[in-house]
Amino acid sequence: MATLSESDALDVLLPVQVGRVRLRNLTLLASGILDELGGSLVRAVRAGAGGVVTKSIGTHPRSGHPSPSFFEVESGAMNAMGLPNPGIEAYGEDMEAVVPEANALGAPVVGSVFAGTGDEFVALTQKMEEYGATAVELNLSCPHAKGYGTDIGADPKVMGPIVQACVDAVDIPVWAKLTPNVTDITPCAIAAARAGAEALTLVNTVKAIAIDPDLRRPILGNTIGGLSGAAIKPIGVRAAWDVWNALEKEGIHPVKNCPLVGSGGVESARDALEYILAGASAVQVGTAFLRQGYDVFGRITEGVRAWLDEQPEDDLRAVVGTAHL
Ligand SMILES: Cc1cc2nc3c(=O)[nH]c(=O)nc-3n(C[C@H](O)[C@H](O)[C@H](O)COP(=O)(O)O)c2cc1C
Repeated sequence: MATLSESDALDVLLPVQVGRVRLRNLTLLASGILDELGGSLVRAVRAGAGGVVTKSIGTHPRSGHPSPSFFEVESGAMNAMGLPNPGIEAYGEDMEAVVPEANALGAPVVGSVFAGTGDEFVALTQKMEEYGATAVELNLSCPHAKGYGTDIGADPKVMGPIVQACVDAVDIPVWAKLTPNVTDITPCAIAAARAGAEALTLVNTVKAIAIDPDLRRPILGNTIGGLSGAAIKPIGVRAAWDVWNALEKEGIHPVKNCPLVGSGGVESARDALEYILAGASAVQVGTAFLRQGYDVFGRITEGVRAWLDEQPEDDLRAVVGTAHL
């Protein structure tokens, strides 16, 4: 496969608007895929990412779950990292290292945060704004950290007010990242959109367990982890599909009022297009980055642009959600 040089990658433009956030192209690096260091995020931008999402950052430093905390399976990967991070105070330095350079290259930095309470979420969101994040993504969906993520984000009555409090506390857009580990994702999507979320990221990893028959024990140190990669793409696409329909029914336009950002198994342009046609305005790339490396962003963008050249529409925005027609 051809390798894009960094200067070529910067020419791969397909600007996309997600609420107030303008991406250089439709791809974002998903949260937690690279170490939290600013330098690696800048490298992703130079390699062609339309924007980057930071690792989820919490109030205090956290070492995460015992290893093994990540391994690949045939159709993706399993992880139970346990939200390791240096804490929001220390993270200021990494934001300083990434924000000016990413922004100069036309790519926004979305600060991801996780917390156990609304007050903590608000404080973290304000800090990300202070650090120059273009938007903040609330991790309401990590499936393997007790008291965080899904424990909060699966209940619309709990997560709605948290989103609202964060929206009220900052001027930057607040995105809500939702969990697929619920019977129906749409009540959470509606709660977040009504609370003022400017975009919904769909979805985080799917709760899963793997067992080693030789050891007769679960493989992950935390036993339960999250499945990502190709295996979960149809789950993510279905989430985008359902949320598109649910928002439309509520009179919330899923492009103009509360755009969707697809996450889960995006490995190629065709995968990205599935999300776009189901209703997403942009996509995040996680596990595929771990498998394909930095070229993945340029490759997806070029493929989508080539596809668009063959369509009657000349703007990607006009194509979003059109599989529903
Ligand atoms: C190793 C690893 C670490 C992750 N860490 C985070 C995280 O800190 N915060 C978060 O919101 N999502 C996290 N995720 C979920 C990804 O951001 C993404 O939503 C998910 O992996 C699905 O996308 P993919 O199939 O492209 O990987 C992590 C995923 C992996 C594989």
